[in-house]
Amino acid sequence: MQTHENQLTQERVESVQYRTFSLLHVSDLRRRKCGYSTMMFDFLIISAALLGIGYAVLWLTVLKMPRFKRSVKLNGKTVIITGSNTGIGRATALDLAKRGARIILACRDKQRAEMGAGAGIVYMHLDLASLQSVRSFAENFLKTEPRLDILINNAGEISFFSDGLGMIFGVNHIGHFLLTVLLLDRLKACAPSRVVTVSSRGYEIGNIDFECINAHKDLGRGNSALSLLRLYTHSKLCNILFTHELAKRLEGTNVTCYSLHPGAIRTEIGRHANLLWKMVLTPIMALFFRDVESGVQTTLYCALQEGIEHLSGRYFSKCAVQKVRAKARDDATAKKLWEVSERLSGLA
Ligand SMILES: NC(=O)c1ccc[n+]([C@@H]2O[C@H](COP(=O)([O-])OP(=O)(O)OC[C@H]3O[C@@H](n4cnc5c(N)ncnc54)[C@H](OP(=O)(O)O)[C@@H]3O)[C@@H](O)[C@H]2O)c1
Repeated sequence: MQTHENQLTQERVESVQYRTFSLLHVSDLRRRKCGYSTMMFDFLIISAALLGIGYAVLWLTVLKMPRFKRSVKLNGKTVIITGSNTGIGRATALDLAKRGARIILACRDKQRAEMGAGAGIVYMHLDLASLQSVRSFAENFLKTEPRLDILINNAGEISFFSDGLGMIFGVNHIGHFLLTVLLLDRLKACAPSRVVTVSSRGYEIGNIDFECINAHKDLGRGNSALSLLRLYTHSKLCNILFTHELAKRLEGTNVTCYSLHPGAIRTEIGRHANLLWKMVLTPIMALFFRDVESGVQTTLYCALQEGIEHLSGRYFSKCAVQKVRAKARDDATAKKLWEVSERLSGLA
């Protein structure tokens, strides 16, 4: 009897011990699990804070765009801006109009351009993809407008459609080349005057293959989105070399010229991209690109800043002159590009 009771007590003790152990084990597991989640939570919070700080630093340094603050007045002056129905061109037109300039919106889409037309802002049809259209525009302008003080070659094409072969080189460089040459006498007659050409920092990965231009009247071949992007960078290198050579040819005329990078700016520039590219570009633009107002500042600087005449032919970014890579200041390439452009645009 005594032995049986002892055995029962022993069993009870063991059972209590077992339950206590189980409970301790479970709570230990829970505590450990809890520890891991707390650590993970802390890690996420710290990572998010570091990312936020990094992003803020990037936004306030690399992506920061200085403002052109001079209150230069332009009463009695006339400015042509290509591609001014949207994006950087439109914002430039609105700013210069507020300063009193007569603005010529040189655009290919009358309806879109006329949204911005008003007192002192006039639409004139210009399709830079057609040499005939460039000639008609210049003829019409020279016949109807007595002055030209600032020419802003702003329009830019980065069509992602395969039938756009030759288009990027044609619009971004050849069209602007012909337009500028046809208007040079009027610019000289109204000197001091300026030619401002909107290029891109993308020029750094561009190059010019003259054999390809001779064979295909284009800067390269291919119709994938990436190859078209490459053509865009080549055309932006052309903008800088064109300005480099133009400055030499304008020496002593009091007409000066500048090329520039406007910054990474949220505009409609990727509107022809396919869905995949749009899905990639949209978040990048939202996070890392500045607003259109920021994109206008360097154009305003090049068009209006006093005392930069000795920097004619140079490339600007963030409202300051910048040193360009050797390929963008090579005299021989710039001269050759000028001669090829004369031939392709029917001037020689
Ligand atoms: N946004 C950026 O981050 C960035 C960076 C570096 C350089 N850029 C340069 O900045 C300039 C302005 O670009 P954006 O960003 O303001 O682009 P956007 O919003 O796409 O504006 C481009 C303008 O060019 C016009 N255009 C295109 N093809 C034309 C043609 N054949 N004839 C006449 N006009 C034509 C467009 O007219 P439609 O509306 O009729 O198409 C539009 O008005 C471009 O030269 C671009 O290369 C921009």
